[in-house]
Amino acid sequence: MERIRIFDTTLRDGEQTPGVSFTPEEKMEIAVQLDKLGVDAIEAGFPSASEGEQKAFKEIAATGLHAEVCALTRTLKSDIDAALACNPDSIHTFISTSEVQMKHALGMTPEQVLEAAVTSVQYIKDHGLICEFSPMDATRTDLGFLKRICKAAEEAGADRINIPDTVGIMSPQSMERLIRELKAVVKTPLSVHCHNDFGLAVANSLAGVVGGAAQVHVAVNGLGERAGNASLEEVVMGLHLIYGKKTGINTKLLYGTSRLVSRLTGIVIQPNKAIVGENAFAHESGIHTRGVTVEPLTFEPFSPEVVGRRRRLIAGKLAGKHGIRVELEDSGFHPSEAQLNEIVRRVKELGDKGKTVTDADLLAIARTVMGEVVEEKIVDLTDFAVTTGIRVIPTASVKIVMDGKEYVAAETGVGPVDAAIKAIQKITNQLANVRLTEYRLEALTGGSDAVAEVIIKVEDKDGNIVSARGAREDIVMASVEAMINGINKLLIRRRK
Ligand code: KIV
Ligand code: ZN
Repeated sequence: MERIRIFDTTLRDGEQTPGVSFTPEEKMEIAVQLDKLGVDAIEAGFPSASEGEQKAFKEIAATGLHAEVCALTRTLKSDIDAALACNPDSIHTFISTSEVQMKHALGMTPEQVLEAAVTSVQYIKDHGLICEFSPMDATRTDLGFLKRICKAAEEAGADRINIPDTVGIMSPQSMERLIRELKAVVKTPLSVHCHNDFGLAVANSLAGVVGGAAQVHVAVNGLGERAGNASLEEVVMGLHLIYGKKTGINTKLLYGTSRLVSRLTGIVIQPNKAIVGENAFAHESGIHTRGVTVEPLTFEPFSPEVVGRRRRLIAGKLAGKHGIRVELEDSGFHPSEAQLNEIVRRVKELGDKGKTVTDADLLAIARTVMGEVVEEKIVDLTDFAVTTGIRVIPTASVKIVMDGKEYVAAETGVGPVDAAIKAIQKITNQLANVRLTEYRLEALTGGSDAVAEVIIKVEDKDGNIVSARGAREDIVMASVEAMINGINKLLIRRRK
């Protein structure tokens, strides 16, 4: 099986992501993680850019990582000297070769560009370092000139030639063809560096390998200039499982690496991103959840553990009873058939309202249904209304059926929850003087439409204490549900 080199540019092109800037400590933390992950080369920075960049680079180069630590330079002696001062294992030197960039970005003729490339490669090789040469904007470069400059870099001693698709304009077909054409001209190992302007960076990188590239430039989470570079995790998994190639990557560390980079860059990963997105191994529809619980391969291309993840079954309106039962059993809940029906009913009710039911929401619902909804209900809430606002005294009115008789009460409070609890107590105090001793509210998912879980403790006049829960997407309703559950528990205990 052919082994493809993974050249990681998270710390260089990745740092060119708008809004991303690493401290030297963060760079070190990522470099150490990339080394553990098993990348072959870490492009740790652009030393001529700043003193901070040089300092961070030197520290990474001195750490003794297994991976090759590579510095980026323009084909300028001053840039290369700045890189040499940082003790890299290799230098990646680049110069624009497309007509538009030579003319408007460099103001140089093709002959001047060719000479700068050759001189720089020789200078790097004279210092005994590995040299990777990039003709920048290669994919928009006149093919004849591209072949000439690649050949010249090879003759000057370049160890690798990297072909950047700088503005991401290639298709998989054109990338494969270009690499094949260049392979016919140079013997030096070829590499590809694809940008994601059309969302094709990963496909183009894989096509480059099919064409004969021995190395791929990637960045964790697809970070990089503009729309980013080819994502490390997607390229690696594609190489391993679709193209039958080997890399040095320990795929079990892919998810952890992605999380680390997301945390340090502050760039949140889209939930539906392949491999590392939160939904990449989440199943919701009844057909899928049933399928994967019977045989994971029914609806998964590979097992989530391969990339350091876990399968998630999502409870939503499309969820099946089977999937919800499996998800609950995984968390140690074993609902009866009636309880499961009630849990599924509540989950679907939330789903119909457009809510996403997270794992935490599901468990909260299950705890409420299984632990607190007592079969025998001495007290049951049949009607409830609450008003609140500015210059309005929060007021709640409740209709409660207690021991078969209907009672109505209204109360005011400091807020709608307080008013509702007092109104309930006004009625139930006839049976049991129940006092609320503890109240805790947990918004389980973050958003303002989260399912709220209310956990309370109530005590009767004889000192009996019970705890109870309520879980609804409405805080007041969750509180009322918890209170009614608590009162029922106390009354049942007293009667027993
Ligand atoms: O995209 C690009 O062309 C680059 C070069 C520096 C290789 O990042
Ligand atoms: Zn780039």
